[in-house]
Amino acid sequence: MAEQPLFKVTIDNVTVEVPAGTTILQAARKAGPEVAPPAMCYYSKLEGSGGKCRTCLVEVSKGSDRDPRPMPKLVASCRTTVMDGMEVKNLTSERVVDARKGVVEFLLINHPLDCPICDQAGECHLQDLSYNHGASGTRYEFQRRTFEKHSLGDKIQLHMTRCILCYRCVMVADQLTGQREHGVLERGERAEISDYLEKSLDKEFIGNVIDVCPVGALTDKTFRFKNRVWFLKPLNAHRDCPTCSGKVTLWNRGDEVFRVTARKDQWGEVEDWICNECRFDKKKTSDWVIEGPREISRHSVISQNKYIGMVKPKETIDEVIGKEPRLFLDIHDVSQVNEKDRDLSLIEGPAHSTDFKEKDEKKQ
Ligand code: SF4
Ligand code: FES
Repeated sequence: MAEQPLFKVTIDNVTVEVPAGTTILQAARKAGPEVAPPAMCYYSKLEGSGGKCRTCLVEVSKGSDRDPRPMPKLVASCRTTVMDGMEVKNLTSERVVDARKGVVEFLLINHPLDCPICDQAGECHLQDLSYNHGASGTRYEFQRRTFEKHSLGDKIQLHMTRCILCYRCVMVADQLTGQREHGVLERGERAEISDYLEKSLDKEFIGNVIDVCPVGALTDKTFRFKNRVWFLKPLNAHRDCPTCSGKVTLWNRGDEVFRVTARKDQWGEVEDWICNECRFDKKKTSDWVIEGPREISRHSVISQNKYIGMVKPKETIDEVIGKEPRLFLDIHDVSQVNEKDRDLSLIEGPAHSTDFKEKDEKKQ
């Protein structure tokens, strides 16, 4: 078979060689994370993704060696393929920086800006995008769009107000579960993700919609409001699963498994799709073989908890009281909220005061 020709592309002054047919975005990712444009709708593992959000716009300042004319308009890098000798500007182009700021403003027009109570906070691509490319204020003065609260099945919560209509979840349902029962209804300002006639989505791999959603529009009901991701310790773990690869990331606090997700690569994309049983039902550390701490990008707020290579300060207390742990004060003696035999991760849905009151009443 004849070898595929390699095209030379320069992105923000970094030159790489890629096979013909590669998109500018893929070439930029090869050149490195510093020059790669952000992508809110493109997902390399989902066929046909991209072309919806416009966050990946770049300027082509030279079309190719053969035809060096620049492209007149900014182009979506996830949908435009490279030519030999092409020169692309991402962050080095004022036009791109300005356009991206406009795109972020549009994406946030109807967004409720509820990061303080959103479960996606800390790992939200829209949050990162607005910090890196957005404006500090909003010019929008009208009432924001709202929707009825909606569930996709009994394990997945949809907050339509946060959705950016990237279509990734629709593609996951289409391409992974083999039977899609939700999609985008209506058009324009009224467009919304909806399941058809309230049918619940109980397909084996549907939980992956939570992992591909770049914002907090789709969240895991078994984890909602239980903890902040940056307080949890991400661990690589696996189990012998008959349905999927069983390779996951556990999000623990101590021995409690608060959340199970698929493992993600440096672009935030799932490495191996996982099944619903692994994601929603295996919430005990004993269900898993722990491989070790998960590597987290140092740019992420989650890396605040990172402990690989951590240099521990000298523990004087050990020297004073010896190695045996000795409690000076047992918090459970003075607080009814923080009962020691209460496993937060095993409470169905968000933990409410009633979870504790019920127990108190039984005691009386
Ligand atoms: S719910 Fe999430 S994944 Fe689905 S279209 Fe909206 S933003 Fe994209
Ligand atoms: S990532 Fe290219 S348009 Fe959304």
